[in-house]
Amino acid sequence: MTQHALIELLNDMTLEEKTGQLAQVPVVSCIGGISEPTGPMEAYSLTPELLKFCGSVICDRPVTAEDTANAIRSVMEEQPHHIPPVVMRDVIHGCHTVFPIPLAIGCTFDEAQAEAMGRCGAIEGAAKGLHVTFAPMLDVVRDPRWGRVMESPGESPALCAAMGAAMVRGTRGDGCDNKDRLAACAKHFVGYGLSQAGQEYAPIDVSRTELYNTYLPPFQAAVDAGAELVMSAFVAIDRTPCVCNEWLLKDVLRDRMGFDGVVISDWGDVEQLANHALAGDLSEAAQLSLQGGLTMDMMSMAYLKHLPQLVREGKVSEQAIDEACLKVLELKNKLGLFEDPFKNTSLEEEEKVCGCQEIRQAAYEAAVSSCVLLKNDGTLPLQSGIKVALTGSHADNGDILGGWSADGCYPIETLLQSFQKESRVALTDTANADVILYAIGERQQETGEDASKTKIELTAEQLDELKRLHALNKPVVLLLFCGRPLILTEALPYCNAVLNVWFPGTAGAAAIRALVMGDENPSGHLSMTVPRSLGQVPIHHDRLSSARPFKENSGFVNRYIDEVNDPLFPFGYGLSYTTFAIGEPRTVAPTVVEVPVTNTGDREGAAVVQVYARLRHGRLMQPDKRLIAWQKRTLQPDETQTLTFRITPDKLRLYDAAGNAVEPEGICDLAIGDRSDCAFNAHVVF
Ligand code: BGC
Repeated sequence: MTQHALIELLNDMTLEEKTGQLAQVPVVSCIGGISEPTGPMEAYSLTPELLKFCGSVICDRPVTAEDTANAIRSVMEEQPHHIPPVVMRDVIHGCHTVFPIPLAIGCTFDEAQAEAMGRCGAIEGAAKGLHVTFAPMLDVVRDPRWGRVMESPGESPALCAAMGAAMVRGTRGDGCDNKDRLAACAKHFVGYGLSQAGQEYAPIDVSRTELYNTYLPPFQAAVDAGAELVMSAFVAIDRTPCVCNEWLLKDVLRDRMGFDGVVISDWGDVEQLANHALAGDLSEAAQLSLQGGLTMDMMSMAYLKHLPQLVREGKVSEQAIDEACLKVLELKNKLGLFEDPFKNTSLEEEEKVCGCQEIRQAAYEAAVSSCVLLKNDGTLPLQSGIKVALTGSHADNGDILGGWSADGCYPIETLLQSFQKESRVALTDTANADVILYAIGERQQETGEDASKTKIELTAEQLDELKRLHALNKPVVLLLFCGRPLILTEALPYCNAVLNVWFPGTAGAAAIRALVMGDENPSGHLSMTVPRSLGQVPIHHDRLSSARPFKENSGFVNRYIDEVNDPLFPFGYGLSYTTFAIGEPRTVAPTVVEVPVTNTGDREGAAVVQVYARLRHGRLMQPDKRLIAWQKRTLQPDETQTLTFRITPDKLRLYDAAGNAVEPEGICDLAIGDRSDCAFNAHVVF
């Protein structure tokens, strides 16, 4: 449809029709069935009269192509202009075929993996008749107590930005009108990852300087990559909830960041304004949110029920409604829904596409690349011909998908089932084994939304069992399933090797077996710092400088008196079955460095060369070190490759409290290595 035709349509719509386009209702209200909601469900009393105006449907439970087609049909039939609803759902790390959790995808340091995850999730989601996914989640995360760290690519703004942009590219392809693609919704805008003490739905406090420098860049990257929607976060900036924060949604998101798509609330968040004592009733909540710049109301029914009356009372202008409605119509137009609301889906097509070989292979490769080898005394990879015991809660358990995997196909192959196919080792019990594989960790319900914790170590039972296995005097390999970095300080001495496998998804068991057997070589590097103790949290590689930096054997410096400052494992850390030597960097032009990297071991492997930077002098404080660039390269034994890094000013640019850019000037020290605690070894000059 042309823009002119869209505007004509808008002009022909009644007020109720226009406000209806701004409302999202649950799919069960259109086609029946039982919700599996991700938020509270109130009695929404959706009369057929209201329902017929709704502009969007949220799938609050797994759906088939038939369900979505029925929902679309039922809304279109009643809608006076037969405008199709836009159908949305969370496709966070794959859909039918589940990929590793996004935190693990961050560990690949490989944008191609993030793009593949976005693409495959979109292909399967689109086959089910979805139009929009509520992804990528781009909260920069530094507190592992928060359950939702699993949904993010990690603690580094640069890594989140690169991975987020790649996920958007994969999700929408060269346009969300493609039959097998979805529109992307970057969330949660902004600062949700700062929830105090890692507690779910807790308040945050953040300066504008930190917003500009740390929390907004991943969203800017997603917007630049073409994200069609942005979801406001449950938290508040300057004591004004994001859902109705005019400065954030208009001045920052639209004017500064150049976003021109749909801003949708998070689940029920308009209504929740009452919990902050900002809105006396649902009507006032609708008024504040629309005036604040929110386009679409997810699951509050505030817009649906109250906007027409607010316009009639003169509290909200019809022009504001028109502007918001046009955004929704434009989204539908970008999706091609006016031409084909069903985007050609069918149950047959869904069956053909979901779980197809190509997608399963991509999920396998992502799982292989995202596991992080934290410790290895040579026990891994396992030798052929040995006897192996596979034990622990996750040894024969298919719950390895992680939170946000309700569309995942079951049954999932378990580790035990996978190892039963392995002819190179014999499975036996712990008493008779040469090596013990101890597969434990978190349950998948302990990760994701509403899964914050105050204890992030292994449980007492897990630790006791680990000690008992260790006492059998044979090598113990810990296969650690988790949705957040877990504190392993006490466990580590009892393990000969530790493979952090996160929640690896549908192909997880096959990927872990291939890594353990040495068919694949671990190449994941931590996307989030692993703390040594809970008291260090939040701990991350790019903390701002201290007025009194730590100095060995000194008092009154930046330190604890009962704990060291260093984490257990730094950001960017990860072992391989081979070894790499990163040579002396060479500055070949004022802002260009070359670094040789050599595979010094005896097998092929992938190195992740990381560049951390710090300006020697500047107008604003900076992190002592922050990740600004990286490259992942596969190298044969003895092979050397020279990597070139162009340190462009945008990588070092800072922003002041007013959002003005502070360009880098002078000498910038670089630490180039394969973990964030590597030493400064080069510099460039701006
Ligand atoms: C979550 C969002 C999600 C939405 C819809 C909310 O509770 O915070 O991330 O997209 O539910 O499921």
